[in-house]
Amino acid sequence: ELSKDQMIIDAGQKHFGATVCKSCGMVYSAASPEDETQHAQYHQRFLEGIKYVSWKNEHVTAEFWDGKIVLILQDDPKYAIKKAEAVRELVDNELGFKQVVLRCPTQTYLFVSTEKKIVGCLIAEPVRQAYKVLSEPPAVSGSPTNDSLEPQRAWCCSTKPEKVFCGISRIWVFSLMRRRGIASRLVDVMRRTFLFGSFLNTNEIAFSDPTPDGKLFAARYCRN
Ligand code: ACO
Ligand code: ZN
Repeated sequence: ELSKDQMIIDAGQKHFGATVCKSCGMVYSAASPEDETQHAQYHQRFLEGIKYVSWKNEHVTAEFWDGKIVLILQDDPKYAIKKAEAVRELVDNELGFKQVVLRCPTQTYLFVSTEKKIVGCLIAEPVRQAYKVLSEPPAVSGSPTNDSLEPQRAWCCSTKPEKVFCGISRIWVFSLMRRRGIASRLVDVMRRTFLFGSFLNTNEIAFSDPTPDGKLFAARYCRN
């Protein structure tokens, strides 16, 4: 099964006049029946996944003009836990992660838009130590860098573990709603609520195995 990113790349290469679906964000060619079928399937699954129905005693941790952030904890109603899992599946599908089992207990933060759609998600887990990602891999003269061989996973880590409290296992924002500060607000709220009674510093959180987008975001966020 193709990931969404893969579909975007294929659509861009094969067809002129590709359209972006305004609801699910998929890029596809309306002129191609295969694309249309793939889109119809993805569209339905995606919209079902991001549909949000509130429940009694939901933990609203922040409210904004364009939405709110809801925290899902391990002892929340089954519906809420199922929803968090469904969103994680969508995110994993987009990131190309395969059935990764999460260490428990995780906390899921959902950014719910005023249209009652889940447009952002942050999954946090307690982590004790982490290795700092170094911005530039050390150059090895005369041989290709890891960068060109494995662009997705080439980030270089320090060898010295550092003490942290929280690991961001996933962070995701709906493709058509990026660069509006949604991920930043999710991390802000997580830092404020993850540990009761303390505000986590940016050097007390870690991003696990970041993608290129994730790394750019993390570098910028942690500089602020
Ligand atoms: N390229 C360059 N800079 C970026 C990018 C990017 N793609 N994304 C964020 N930034 C920087 C910018 O400086 C931005 O500020 P600006 O828009 O004023 O310039 C700043 O970070 C804050 O960005 P936000 O608007 O808060 O981030 P956004 O809501 O767009 O979400 C995210 C960022 C989550 C990485 C999004 O691009 C995404 O979902 N990508 C696909 C999924 C993914 O790769 N997630 C990370 C996986 S790694 C992990 O989960 C541990
Ligand atoms: Zn669509």
